[in-house]
Amino acid sequence: MAKNASSFICQNCGAVYGRWQGKCDSCGEWNSIAEEGSATDRPVPGRSARKGRVFTLEPLAGETHDAPRLPSGIPEVDRVTGGGFVRGSVLLMAGDPGIGKSTLLIQTAAALALAGHRAVYISGEEAVAQVRLRAERLGLAKAPVELAAETSVEDIIATLSQGKTPRLIVVDSIQTMWTDAIESAPGTVTQVRGSAQALIRFAKRSGAAVILVGHVTKDGQIAGPRVVEHMVDAVLSFEGEGSHQFRILRAVKNRFGPTDEIGVFEMTGAGLREVPNPSELFLSERDLGSPGTVVFAGIEGTRPLLVEIQALVAPTSLGTPRRAVVGWDPSRLSMVLAVLEAHCGVKLGGHDVYLNVAGGLRIQEPAADLAAAAALVSSLAGASLPAEAVYFGEVSLSGAIRPVAQSAARLKEAAKLGFTRAFAPDAAREVGTDSGLALSAIGSLTDLVADIAANSKRAKAPVRIARQDG
Ligand code: TYD
Ligand code: MG
Repeated sequence: MAKNASSFICQNCGAVYGRWQGKCDSCGEWNSIAEEGSATDRPVPGRSARKGRVFTLEPLAGETHDAPRLPSGIPEVDRVTGGGFVRGSVLLMAGDPGIGKSTLLIQTAAALALAGHRAVYISGEEAVAQVRLRAERLGLAKAPVELAAETSVEDIIATLSQGKTPRLIVVDSIQTMWTDAIESAPGTVTQVRGSAQALIRFAKRSGAAVILVGHVTKDGQIAGPRVVEHMVDAVLSFEGEGSHQFRILRAVKNRFGPTDEIGVFEMTGAGLREVPNPSELFLSERDLGSPGTVVFAGIEGTRPLLVEIQALVAPTSLGTPRRAVVGWDPSRLSMVLAVLEAHCGVKLGGHDVYLNVAGGLRIQEPAADLAAAAALVSSLAGASLPAEAVYFGEVSLSGAIRPVAQSAARLKEAAKLGFTRAFAPDAAREVGTDSGLALSAIGSLTDLVADIAANSKRAKAPVRIARQDG
C-alpha cells in the first residue's frame, strides 16, 4: 500500500528532501524548507481529481462584446459617456459648486426613470423636499425617481441591496458621505476614499451604474475628488463660466469611451437644455466686422464647432506688457506671438495682448493657432477680417502653416452655417473643393500678415505693422 509520505521542499529552488533541515544544500538558502503534502504524482486514492472548468477561447478577430450600456435618454450625455452608462461602472461628475451638476443629474435620473428603469437619487447636501422642489421647477415632478437624503454609505448600500437592483444611482456628493469603517470626519480624504471604495465595490457587485458628484474648487485644490479620480471608471467634468449660460460636459477620463467629446448645454429657467448645434450658439452674438474678431473652425471630438476668437492688442503703459488669455492655452499664445515677431516683423513688445474665446468655451487644439494669429494681427492693424470667412491651421515655429486633422468636417460645418471662404493650410485644398467654400491656402504666417496688411491699407486705419525687410 502506497504510503502517503510528506516531503520537504525548498521554497527558493524547489529541491526536495526526505526530512527537514535548516539549510538547503542545493541553493544554500537558510530556513527556506517547508513541509508539503504528498509529492507523488498519483492522485490520492478515494478522492476523484477535480476536472478543470472548460472555458471558451475567443478568436481575436471575433465580434467585440461591448460592455452593456444604458443610454441615458439625454443624447449630449450619451455622446460624452460614449453611448450611455455602463453596467457596474462608476462615474465621477466633477465641477465647481453651483455649475449645475445636481440639476443635470436629476434630469438624467428622471429621463431614465421615465424610460422604465429604476433610478435612485441620494442627496447628502439637500433635503428631499429641496430636491423635489427643484424637480418641480424642471417639470419632472411626475418622474418615478426614488429619493433619499442620506450620508451613511453602509445604510445606503444596505437599502439599495434590497429589491431590484437600480440601473442608476446618483450620489450627490461624495464629500458628504461617510463610512463606519473609517474613523475620520466626513469630507476628509480618508473618508472620501473609503466611501468611494465601498460604493465602487457595490457597483461592481450589483451591476448598477453609480454616479458620484464631486465638488472641485476653482483651482482644483480639494483633495477629495482628485483621490477618487484614480478609482472610478470615468471622470466627467462639468464646466462653464458663471456669467454665461453655456455649460460644457467633457470626459476627462473614460475607460469605456472617447475622452475628446463634449456635450453642450444651456442653463435656462427650466433647467439644462441640450444644444444640438453648438456652432450656431457660439456664433449667435458675433461682432460682425470689427477688428480683432475671427471665426475659428474647430473640432471637439468628432463634432465640428465654429467659435469666435477675439483679440485686443493695445499699447501698454507697463514695463512688462500684459498677456491675458481666456479659453486658450497661454503657452500657445506666447508661441504665436514669438513667431509673429520673429518671422513676420510684427512687434508686440510694447503692447498688451488679450485673447478671448467667446461663449466660455475652452479650446485645446493647435489648429486654433492661425485664427488666433489672424485676430491678433487684425486688432493690431485695426483692420477687420472678412466676415464671411473661417480660419484654421497650426502654426509651426518656422512660421509655416501645418495641416490639421478633419479639414473636410470643418469646411462642411462652415458651409452649413453660411460661410463662403476659408483660410486654411495648403493641404486642405484637396478636401476643400467639394465643400463649396472658396479656399485661400495659407502657406506661412507671413502670407497671412501680408494679406491683412493689404486689406488694412484699403481701410481707413493705417497699418502699423513694421515689415522686416532686411
Ligand atoms: P446646481 O445643480 O444646484 O449646481 P451644483 O449641484 O453643481 O452645485 O445648480 C445651481 C445653479 O443653477 C443655481 O445657481 C441656479 C441655477 N439653475 C437655473 O438657472 N435654472 C434651473 O432650472 C435650476 C434648477 C438651477
Ligand atoms: Mg448640487
